[in-house]
Amino acid sequence: MVIRIAAVGDVHLDQDVVGRFRPALEQLPDSADVLLLAGDLTRHGTESEARCVATEFGGLGVPVVAVLGNHDYHCDEVPAVIRVLEDAGILVLEGTNVVLDCTGVRLGIAGAKGFGGGFAGRCASEFGEPEMKDFVRTTSAISEQLGVALREMDCDVRVALTHYAPVPDTLAGEPPEIYPFLGSYLLGQAIDSAPTELALHGHAHAGSERGTTPGGVRVRNVAHPVIKQAYSVFHLHAPYAGATAGKVSAVSGSGSS
Ligand SMILES: [Fe+2]
Ligand SMILES: [Fe+2]
Repeated sequence: MVIRIAAVGDVHLDQDVVGRFRPALEQLPDSADVLLLAGDLTRHGTESEARCVATEFGGLGVPVVAVLGNHDYHCDEVPAVIRVLEDAGILVLEGTNVVLDCTGVRLGIAGAKGFGGGFAGRCASEFGEPEMKDFVRTTSAISEQLGVALREMDCDVRVALTHYAPVPDTLAGEPPEIYPFLGSYLLGQAIDSAPTELALHGHAHAGSERGTTPGGVRVRNVAHPVIKQAYSVFHLHAPYAGATAGKVSAVSGSGSS
């Protein structure tokens, strides 16, 4: 049995982008069972921009599951953004999970925005000023929530969805100096704490598409500027994992990580 997972992140919607993705999305139910949105859905995180996301990604005929990104937090309107998205049938995960029935296979999706901190050998530590401790503790708490959300699911296939990157592999192409602001190894550890089949993230607009956690979980950066198409489709074979990315119709996009 194959589960088809479509995914894209960093669509950064506002009025001027509405309609750019929709033509390709209308074909999505023919090629995918679910659509995952890897954060930075809006440009600045306003309620009006969230309505653009609802217009573009609502009513597709397949379940749509999202996490938010840093841009979606910018204007401090997160509750309103989530309300607008969920009114459009888009489920927003924040350290939580959902199990969907995909033609008899239980697809478990655990999602969290994630946060920064860096990767092995070049990461922030919980030491010194309270501000630095708060920074690292934020990542630790989100990663812990993600790990619990992954482990507690009773499902056949397990997918992790974040905005920030869990590995440095998919950041290749970004300036090394900003890696600590693009992700954290703690997210990778959370993903490896459960039998996860596939980890999807965005945020790294200039990064690379493919990576692997230390535990061997496939990681894919689905940021729109990276995949350069409306969405990628991954085929997961239940109960045994085997993700391969397929290509679907491309659209152009914009935005910064
Ligand atoms: Fe981002
Ligand atoms: Fe972005």
